[in-house]
Amino acid sequence: VNRPYVFINVAASADGKIDTAERKGATISSPRDRQRVDRLRAESDAVMVGGRTLHDEDPRLTVKSEALRAERVSLGLPPNPAKVSLSSRLELKGDCRFLNSGPARILLFTTSRTSAEQLDMLRAHQAEVDVTPQAAVDLGHVMRTLQDAGVRRLMVEGGATLNFELLRLGLVDELFIFVAPLIFGGEKAPGLASGPGFARQAALSLRLVQSEQWEDEGVLLRYQLRKGN
Ligand SMILES: NC(=O)c1ccc[n+]([C@@H]2O[C@H](COP(=O)([O-])OP(=O)(O)OC[C@H]3O[C@@H](n4cnc5c(N)ncnc54)[C@H](OP(=O)(O)O)[C@@H]3O)[C@@H](O)[C@H]2O)c1
Repeated sequence: VNRPYVFINVAASADGKIDTAERKGATISSPRDRQRVDRLRAESDAVMVGGRTLHDEDPRLTVKSEALRAERVSLGLPPNPAKVSLSSRLELKGDCRFLNSGPARILLFTTSRTSAEQLDMLRAHQAEVDVTPQAAVDLGHVMRTLQDAGVRRLMVEGGATLNFELLRLGLVDELFIFVAPLIFGGEKAPGLASGPGFARQAALSLRLVQSEQWEDEGVLLRYQLRKGN
């Protein structure tokens, strides 16, 4: 296969939303779930978010636990997985958390709509920026590039648009969903996968491989994508 092993991790409300309609990056995970996510990150070669999550939330995407970072280093790995994002037009600030939290390799994918000044600034931060002459970033190309960069295990942490595109293109192997005991509602609140959606007969079929009920009343679901979707 020409791509890494890809899994999506999301925290969702009981009605399947990954943020409220306000779209301010609501906290959905419980403290225990944040530890689980940190371990998943530590076990990955790279962590990816969509361009909107990147710009609106400026995530660090680093491993929070010092012990987990030390474990990686003892295995001969860098302390943090590589950080990956994609946007047709990157507009990051030089002092943003994404570029300055680390140490971590940074891989960005964009188009010629990103300004030359922005590219200079990103490269001055040691970010590796892939600029396509095409109108949009091609996720197949992203996957091949990550594979060539040595990424074997890729964790995707949203958002809804990126999740849908990866699922639509058959680029996802597994899904981890932490369901919090909350209802967000709201037509504008993003769900696990947005985009145009699938007709019923084209819906992706999943295989439930794990389900856990936690004391914090969260539920952890782990699914694999069925072959033949
Ligand atoms: N609860 C959770 O686990 C969780 C995790 C992450 C995010 N979120 C939530 O998700 C929401 C953001 O999701 P979102 O759907 O608005 O945006 P998103 O998925 O974070 O980012 C989508 C953007 O990525 C860029 N992109 C470039 N090439 C792409 C391609 N080939 N396919 C898909 N995307 C491509 C596009 O930006 P350009 O237009 O710049 O090209 C696109 O608009 C926020 O509310 C955030 O809080 C929740």
